[in-house]
Amino acid sequence: MVPERVELPKAYRLINHGPTVMVSSAHGGRRNVMSAAWNMALDFTPAKVCVVIDKATFTRGLVEASGEFMLQVPARGQAALVLAVGQRSGRDGDKFADAALRTLDPELLAGAAGTPPVSHALLSTALEGSLAWLACRSIPEPHNQQAYDLFIGEVVAAWADPQAFSNGHWRADAKPSLHYIAGGAFFETGAAFEIK
Ligand SMILES: Cc1cc2nc3c(=O)[nH]c(=O)nc-3n(C[C@H](O)[C@H](O)[C@H](O)COP(=O)(O)O)c2cc1C
Repeated sequence: MVPERVELPKAYRLINHGPTVMVSSAHGGRRNVMSAAWNMALDFTPAKVCVVIDKATFTRGLVEASGEFMLQVPARGQAALVLAVGQRSGRDGDKFADAALRTLDPELLAGAAGTPPVSHALLSTALEGSLAWLACRSIPEPHNQQAYDLFIGEVVAAWADPQAFSNGHWRADAKPSLHYIAGGAFFETGAAFEIK
C-alpha cells in the first residue's frame, strides 16, 4: 500500500467522523438549533467539551449572550434534520416552529436529580428523538472564541436515551449515531467489538 496524499483543506475529514451534534441555544425569548460536526470531548472532571460556532451563525449570539449551550447527539433518523438545521439560519425564522420540532418536557430532564444549573429556556430546546443531550455552561475564552470560533463548555448535566447509551457505554445493538463526511454524506455507527 502506498499512502495517498490528502489535500490539506480536506485533512480534517480524516478525523471528522466523531458524532455530528446539534447545538441548541436560547436567549431573550429566542431559541435556536444548528448542526456542528466540529466538536469533541475535552476533559473528564469537570466534564468539558468544545465546539466550533462560527461568527456568522445566529447560534453564536445566543450562546455569547446566555453563556450556555446544549449539544445533542442526533439519531440516524434525524439525518435530514441535521442537514436542515445546518443549512438555514434561525435569523430567518424559528427552526423549532417552522419544522414543527418536538421538544422534551424540561421537567422530564430535571427528574429526580433536580433542575440542572442552566436556564429553563435552554432545557426547552432538547429535541425529542435525540440520543443524548449535554447541557453546558460556556467557559469564556475570548481569544479562542474570536480567533478560532472555538467554544469550551463545562457539561453541567447530561442525559441519554437508555436504548442508545446505558451503564456508561453506547449500546452497539440499537440506534446508531451520525458521523458527517461532507456534502450531505454521513456514516452511521456500525458493529461494536471489544478487546479484553
Ligand atoms: C453536518 C453539518 C455540520 C456543520 N458543522 C458546523 C460546525 O462544526 N461549526 C459551525 O459553526 N457550523 C457548522 N455547520 C453550519 C451551521 O450548522 C450552519 O451555518 C447553520 O445554518 C447555522 O445556523 P444558525 O444561523 O441558525 O445558528 C454545519 C452544518 C452541517 C450541515
